[in-house]
Order: sequence, then C-alpha cells, then structure tokens
Amino acid sequence: MGFHAAVRSRIDLPVEGAVLTMPDLPMTYERTNIEDLTPYTPGEQPRHVRMVKLNTNENPYPPAQAVLQAIAQVGGESLRRYPPPSADAFREAAAEAFNLSPEQIIATNGGDELLRMAITTFCLPRPPVGRGGADRGDMGGIAVAEPSYSLYPVLAAIHDTPVARISLCEDWSLPDDFARRVIDAGARLAIIVNPHAPSGHLEPWPKLEAIARQLVGHAVLMIDEAYVDFAVSDALPLLDASRGLDNVLLLRTLSKGYSLAGLRFGFGLGGPSLINALHKVRDSYNTDILAQTAATAALKHRDQARESWQRVMAERRRLGESLAARSWQVLPSESNFLLATPPAKAAAAAEIYQLLKQQGICVRYFDEDRLRDKLRITIGTPEQNDALLSALDAI
Ligand SMILES: Cc1ncc(COP(=O)(O)O)c(C=O)c1O
Repeated sequence: MGFHAAVRSRIDLPVEGAVLTMPDLPMTYERTNIEDLTPYTPGEQPRHVRMVKLNTNENPYPPAQAVLQAIAQVGGESLRRYPPPSADAFREAAAEAFNLSPEQIIATNGGDELLRMAITTFCLPRPPVGRGGADRGDMGGIAVAEPSYSLYPVLAAIHDTPVARISLCEDWSLPDDFARRVIDAGARLAIIVNPHAPSGHLEPWPKLEAIARQLVGHAVLMIDEAYVDFAVSDALPLLDASRGLDNVLLLRTLSKGYSLAGLRFGFGLGGPSLINALHKVRDSYNTDILAQTAATAALKHRDQARESWQRVMAERRRLGESLAARSWQVLPSESNFLLATPPAKAAAAAEIYQLLKQQGICVRYFDEDRLRDKLRITIGTPEQNDALLSALDAI
C-alpha cells in the first residue's frame, strides 16, 4: 500500500491512534511510485578476479598511466577542501578536446547522473490525483526507442513521469516517424542511445540531426553516446552553432572508452542554455576532487585511451568473425560489445549463459522481447576472447 492509501486508511479510522495497532495496514513512508518501482538490475560484479568478465562493457585495458599518476598526486590539502563545484579544469580540458566552450559542458557523477538530471530538469512529474492530470494534455515525460538501456524507464519512474516506448525497426534502426511519435506522445525528453545498446547499431548523425530539427520547440533530444569512442562517427556536428539546434544534449562517459568505470565520471555536451538548466539541478559538489583530477588527465591524454579503442575494435572484428565461423549470427557493432545469436542447433542463449558462467565466463543475457535468443558479449582482451571461444566450442 502506498503512502496516500495508508494515510487515507488512517483518516477513515473512527478511533484516533488505532492505526498503530491495525495488523493489516502496514505503514509505509515511500511515495507510491517508489513503492511500486522495480529497481534497475545492474550486470553481475563477481568478486573472483579470475572470472572472465564480459558482461558490463568495461574496457579490458587499464586506464592511461597519466591518469594513475594524476590520482597519486592528489594531496591531503586537496582532500581537506571541497572540490571546485562545477569541475572547471575538467570542463576546460573537455572544451579543448571537443572544440567547444566550457559553457557547453557539465561534469556528472557517471553518465547515469546526467540521465537523472535531464529527467529532473526537463520532464513533468505526474500531478497528484485530482489536480488536473487528466486535462493537462501533455504527458511531459520521456520517449525512448526500445529495447535499450533499462535504466531510462527506472529513472522516469523515480521522477514519476510517464514513458512513451517507441519500438526500433527489425534492423535496430530508428523508425522514420520517431520524431512525430515523440511529439504526438507529448514527451519533453527523447533519449536515443547511439551507438545503440545492446545491438551496437550506429545511426549516422544526419539522421539524428533531422530528428532534432523536428523536435525543436517540443522536446530535448538526448543522444546517449556512452559507447561512441568505439564508433566511426559521433553527433558532435549537431552542436555546431551554425545548425541552430538548441535542443540537443550529448551524454558521454569515461566508464567505457577511458577504462574508468570505477571512477564514476560522465559529462554532458550541449547548448549553453540546456547546460545552464542542468547546472541548476546538480548537487553542490557532484564530482569529487579525485574524479575531477583523473578525468581531466584522461581527456588531456586521450591518445593513450585511443590506443585501447583501436585494440578493442580489432578484437571486435576478430571475435565477430570467429563467432560467425561457428554459425552464430552477429550484428555489426560500433560499440565495445557484440549482440550475437547462437545457431539454432546449439543450446538456447539462456542455457549457454549459465554454462559459460559455470566455466568462469560472464556474459550478459536479457530475458526481454527481441533479446531472449541472444547474448551480449563485451569485447575482452585477445586472451579473454579466446577463452570464450574455447568454452563455446566445449559447450
Ligand atoms: C547506454 C548507457 N548509457 C549510459 C551509461 C552510463 O554509464 P556510467 O554511469 O558508467 O557513466 C551506460 C552504462 O552502462 C550505458 O550502457
């Protein structure tokens, strides 16, 4: 029972204070939407270091030496003080790396925090029952192209804002009427992950530009580029002032491309007015000094991360070809993972997932429409990928 229901029961009771002794009316302090919420299920984080971990799309190579050195140099005095609230040194480094101005950048505690902040900033929570919800004529929530990152609807549920779900085409591309459907749904924020997760499909930026243009005046288009470092192109051209798009926000993270998932550092790129709005809702010190220092070094030494991107891309090709040679169907991927379907005569994907786990190899299985017959496999080092292939051969 939600809080409102509990309170109502309380009010209905004839004898004051009797609520405390009612055995069938447990008191709850959560909002109803939180009580009803099924939280996000992260990929497993096994404790055995020996596990071949190909399930949460981490970069298999270590962070750049320059990043580790920068962290080692953070002294006690920096830890004693509060960090710079808006991570200015990082924003300057990012501005230089992406040819933008610092006003177009916001630093966040992982890309996930940026998602939460965007929903808080742009989407309308449902009004309390009886307060004009029905006649508002504007659902005000998020629109997502599905299937995709399952955190999006969870964050929407936390903010108590509706979700319009728009199915991707058979080939995992966005439907041509995507923008029209976002507008018809009255969504305030459309989220597209590109390259797409979990398929690895990449939409070229001109298609995203056309969508953004249709959404101007209606909704913010957030392009989640968590995996873009492994792709041939990104959506940065949409931020060029000459295009006049004031509604585009890009999500970036250091978790994948920069081997820093444990650091929790992401950032948003967009027009100054969107970024300004996001700054208003951030925690006073949302990124700590260790993370800011490491993230700044990571962007200043992108060449070191870039080497790992090349190695991951080379292994992506080799693993894809090796799986195809074993009659797996492998989707072309612009990410650091492959979405692959085992051959019909092999065991089902769910069973292969379990068998691999028993052999110390963790991949990702989603018990969801369109994904049930597939496994998502993070690209590992050559040795890890070989271990996977040998285990599959044994199965
Ligand atoms: C599609 C997508 N977006 C955003 C993120 C957020 O990453 P992080 O919070 O680690 O920066 C992830 C992480 O797995 C992701 O898969």
